[in-house]
Amino acid sequence: MLAIGHRGACGYQPENTLASFRHAARLGCPWIELDVYHVEGQLVVIHDDDLARTTNGEGLIMESSFAYLRSLDAGNGEQIPTLQEVLEVADTKMNINVELKGPDTAEPVAALLTNACQNQWHSEQFLISSFHHDELTRASTKFRRGALFGRPAADIIGRSKEMSAFSVNVSLRMISQELVNLAHHAQLKIYVYTVNDRPDIDRLRNWGVDGVFSDFPDRVMENNP
Ligand code: G3P
Ligand code: MG
Repeated sequence: MLAIGHRGACGYQPENTLASFRHAARLGCPWIELDVYHVEGQLVVIHDDDLARTTNGEGLIMESSFAYLRSLDAGNGEQIPTLQEVLEVADTKMNINVELKGPDTAEPVAALLTNACQNQWHSEQFLISSFHHDELTRASTKFRRGALFGRPAADIIGRSKEMSAFSVNVSLRMISQELVNLAHHAQLKIYVYTVNDRPDIDRLRNWGVDGVFSDFPDRVMENNP
């Protein structure tokens, strides 16, 4: 079962910072997940649309300048990183799930990843995901798509196939053995977020879940056969 470091290794370091991604690398994490917005032509890595929770700034990401965002402390003196900086930290050794959080992110993300694929990276090392399915379907089909669902919905599997998804990424409260089986029957991988407790990790492994997002990705790796 794949260990996907959620916002890096955010159980240990401030989420979505280079310190968090470096920590995931030190743990030997094969995949990291991060969240992106597109601000003044730059892809910035941050989760909330509001700055208050994770930085010393205030206001909305989409109403801020890139210079202002870069002036903020995102925890322990870390800057809000750009996606390009995270690729440099990952250095092709960790694969990356880019979650499209902000509007109009699909095209610039695909452009940046396409450029990376001309420099050492391979397209299968990336997964582009989103809860915003219209945005997700604007992402280049060169890259694998993860259809995110946060709550139970009708025909999750059919909708994921319509989006040409590679994986269906669901919240822990939605997962069941039946959903795992349905995904696999449809040739979809199934990934589950956010899984931090060892009994949940073990249960999902037994159900045949393909990967889990964890703030403590070492907990997922430690019991992998
Ligand atoms: O992509 C998995 C997970 O990150 C989705 O939820 O809110 O943590 O971005 P959220
Ligand atoms: Mg996310």
